[in-house]
Order: sequence, then C-alpha cells, then structure tokens
Amino acid sequence: MNTLKCIKTRRSIRKFLDTKISDEDINCLITSAQYAPYSKGKFSCEFIIIKNNNTKKELSAVRDNINEQALTTAPVLIVICIDKNSTPRWIESTVFCAENILLSAHDINLGAVYTVAYNRDKPEITKQFQKILNLPSNIIPVCIIPIGHPDKSKIIADKIIADKNKIIHLEKW
Ligand SMILES: Cc1cc2nc3c(=O)[nH]c(=O)nc-3n(C[C@H](O)[C@H](O)[C@H](O)COP(=O)(O)O)c2cc1C
Repeated sequence: MNTLKCIKTRRSIRKFLDTKISDEDINCLITSAQYAPYSKGKFSCEFIIIKNNNTKKELSAVRDNINEQALTTAPVLIVICIDKNSTPRWIESTVFCAENILLSAHDINLGAVYTVAYNRDKPEITKQFQKILNLPSNIIPVCIIPIGHPDKSKIIADKIIADKNKIIHLEKW
C-alpha cells in the first residue's frame, strides 16, 4: 500500500476476531517501530508483547477509560515502554514508535488502536501498570496497543476531515 493510502485508510480498531496473529507479523510491527525517529542519538523504547488473557484483564481493569473490549479481545497487546532517564523527550519517542506500529499493522491487514497508559496527572495509574508488568520505577509504560484481525462487523463512522482553509495559517497565525 502506498504511504498516503495507508495513512488515509487507517482507523482505530477496538474489536477483534478471535484469530491469532503470527510471530512474523508481530516481528514486522516491532521492526517498524525500530525505524521510528528518536531523540538523544539512541533508540530507547522497549516493548512488552502480551498474549496472556489474565494479564490483558488485569491491564484493562486499571483504567476505566482504556477501552476494555480492545484490551481483552485483542490477541496481542504491545506495551511501549521507555526509561524516563534516557531522554527528556521520552514521551515523543514512544509516540513515534506507536504511530509506526499503527500504520504497519494496517498495512498488513491488522487492526490496532493507541491507548494511553501513562498519565502525568495520575502517577498511581502508572504504578499499577508497572506492578502488573514487573517494571522498575524508571521504566514508564507510555501506551498499550491492542492488535488483531479487525472485526469488520463493527461499523466505523467515516472520518470527518477539517477544511484545510480553517487549519492552515500562512506565515503567521
Ligand atoms: C494521545 C491519544 C490518546 C488516545 N487514547 C486512547 C485510549 O486511551 N483509548 C482508545 O480507545 N483510543 C485512544 N486514542 C485513539 C483515538 O480515540 C482515535 O485515534 C481517534 O478517535 C480518531 O480515530 P481514528 O484513529 O480511527 O482515526 C487515543 C489517541 C491519541 C492520539
């Protein structure tokens, strides 16, 4: 798929078929993340691949606004983590990885969605995720990406794109 078509047709998928995804596909997604931009001259993100249903349930119970169905029906969750001491830009570094994973998943006919794990204003949430995932305190789980074969019976509304004239400013605001 060409890049623009991939970007334009990607949507957040929160309901998945009960079909496994191959290790080859997971490997492809992690490779795409490894090619994301990074700060401070070093790639610092690390990934936890979760297939265990109990772990998925534990994670989905931490925050009620993480889409529970997405976390529990996805065959695989990828948690993107980073050492918060590795770069002052640790959040951005993980988010670039996340976008690469979302787009690559779509490119290989998988569905995925970005769900927040780290919330600056709620450190207790981070601590709960860290406990479940056995993470040291310096390693922050920034987001959780559920991945699987999309349940196409779930109708997704068309995306509404803003009129460019309303969002582009020439030279200055
Ligand atoms: C910073 C950020 C946080 C998000 N957090 C969640 C989340 O916790 N749970 C969820 O289901 N979707 C989450 N999303 C996905 C958005 O809801 C989704 O991208 C948006 O509705 C646009 O839909 P689309 O991805 O299909 O284009 C998040 C997206 C972003 C950019």
